[in-house]
Amino acid sequence: MIGVGIRGVTKSYGALPILRGIDLTIDPGEFVVLLGPSGCGKSTLLNIVAGLEPLDDGAIEIAGEDMTHADPSKRHLAMVFQSYALFPTMSVRQNLGFGMRINRVPKAEIVRRVQSVAALLQIEPLLDRKPAQLSGGQRQRVAIGRALVRSTRLCLFDEPLSNLDAQLRADMRVELRRLHADLGSTMIYVTHDQVEAMTLASRVAVINRGKVEQVDTPQKVYDRPATLFVARFVGSPAINLLEGVLMADRRFRSATGATVDLSGYAFASTPRPGTEVVLGVRPDDVRVAEAPARRGDALSAVPAFTESLGPRSLLWLELDGQRWSMYVDAKGGAIPTGPFEPGFDAADASLFDKTTGVRL
Ligand SMILES: Nc1ncnc2c1ncn2[C@@H]1O[C@H](COP(=O)(O)OP(=O)(O)OP(=O)(O)O)[C@@H](O)[C@H]1O
Ligand SMILES: [Mg+2]
Repeated sequence: MIGVGIRGVTKSYGALPILRGIDLTIDPGEFVVLLGPSGCGKSTLLNIVAGLEPLDDGAIEIAGEDMTHADPSKRHLAMVFQSYALFPTMSVRQNLGFGMRINRVPKAEIVRRVQSVAALLQIEPLLDRKPAQLSGGQRQRVAIGRALVRSTRLCLFDEPLSNLDAQLRADMRVELRRLHADLGSTMIYVTHDQVEAMTLASRVAVINRGKVEQVDTPQKVYDRPATLFVARFVGSPAINLLEGVLMADRRFRSATGATVDLSGYAFASTPRPGTEVVLGVRPDDVRVAEAPARRGDALSAVPAFTESLGPRSLLWLELDGQRWSMYVDAKGGAIPTGPFEPGFDAADASLFDKTTGVRL
């Protein structure tokens, strides 16, 4: 198990800045997921850590050593690529041993390491098959195995599951978690799939346009998004949003004059009245107000349609011109059919500066 330090890494392709000062410390044994939209620079960053791509500025430390300019083979790591190109004419056994053979690892050692990785990944019965005789998930396991025979201390994964169907992806997620628990290796895993990030990571680093927006546990990223970008990117159905202005008495006022009492909200700093803000509330936190204020300026929602999700339904609302959603109990619970006042705890909400997108 080894730690990784990414220090002020910048990278441009021509005049186009791709990474704009990335700082991230990954502790030994952590499973860190780099999450961000397509094109935000995730693969570029992973390739820089692996030494497959030069950086413009900054430093990479691996196991406390400066590895910024070290050859990939000196970095004690293994990498699984999105396109896991196995050699089609070689058996699984030969695919697994290939890297060691060209590095002149003694034969007995190759046999030993291939055996132990095959046992770990439960692919022993497949060792004599060719890649064409494997399912997508089995091929993926061989690709992971090929990385693990080289190093189990630090593994880098670049969207390794994106070629698999939904069921296999879910199965492989479970296997990767087990693998991490068994090996205790440090893992850096790139994905643009937030479900993958939330289920696998001990910490998630959300990247947007070449910058880290937040590094936190999955729960923290979901409950306390540091920026409006994170709030929007994480969570499905998406967080409910409403633009407005912060007033002197810690009330939020929307464009149509509806107000929300935010006295229960934990402001990061003393709020400045007049600030243009965006209010965010997760669908799980919205309910029908228990004690409707019946004030003229209370929030008012109009039900639009429901989506049945089995045990509960998702109710879509029209609120101040915005599309909101909330969960309702499919059995027993009354589903509003006419305009009603939605309620939520201010403590569960998120408030962002509209101009900077930063959490207030
Ligand atoms: N060799 C290159 N030359 C020029 N531009 C490049 C090169 N490699 C990547 N880019 C650009 O850099 C940006 C970041 O690419 P990168 O592959 O790191 O994105 P990503 O976050 O991994 O996206 P995805 O989720 O789609 O894989 C993209 O705009 C891409 O077009
Ligand atoms: Mg990529």
